[in-house]
Amino acid sequence: MREVTLLQLYEHPITQKYLNRSGMAHAIAVAYHAFHLAKEHNVDPDIAAKAGFLHDMGHFTWYRNGNWDYDLYRQNDIHPIKGAERAHKLLIRLGENPIKAKTISLAILFHTDSFLPSNDIVRTPLQQIVKWADEKDEEEGGKHHYRTIDSLRAKDMIIRLDQLIDKEANNKLSS
Ligand SMILES: [Fe+2]
Repeated sequence: MREVTLLQLYEHPITQKYLNRSGMAHAIAVAYHAFHLAKEHNVDPDIAAKAGFLHDMGHFTWYRNGNWDYDLYRQNDIHPIKGAERAHKLLIRLGENPIKAKTISLAILFHTDSFLPSNDIVRTPLQQIVKWADEKDEEEGGKHHYRTIDSLRAKDMIIRLDQLIDKEANNKLSS
């Protein structure tokens, strides 16, 4: 049994606030990609899907005169650090296993090199999967952050992914 489901994360007001800012459609797409990549690479799909879902929850709005300013963003962004911290706090509050919470938080911290002075991190398989999952859904000019999804459909997709994760865990147990 998992301590925390994606649906619990999805329905939390903190997640709604930050993921609607960075793009709920993107968050869900990355969670699915992370789940499938985790299966391929023999990584825990539950951890991968959660990290994928929450990976962008650290975004700040870099606005100047009402428009997103990419120069400000590039200079000042630390969204992986903020996201890692926000996700960790939320997961612990919801009762996540502390080892899983830390692993998810670190995968969020290392999901991109964009905020780091150099790009020489050696990633764990999980961290690499979350980075790939994010890149699979990226669109030019950051358009993936603006793609929208109807909230009923979003919730259905989250419930479906929870079921896929449970099925995967049951298969592991019986094999
Ligand atoms: Fe992303």
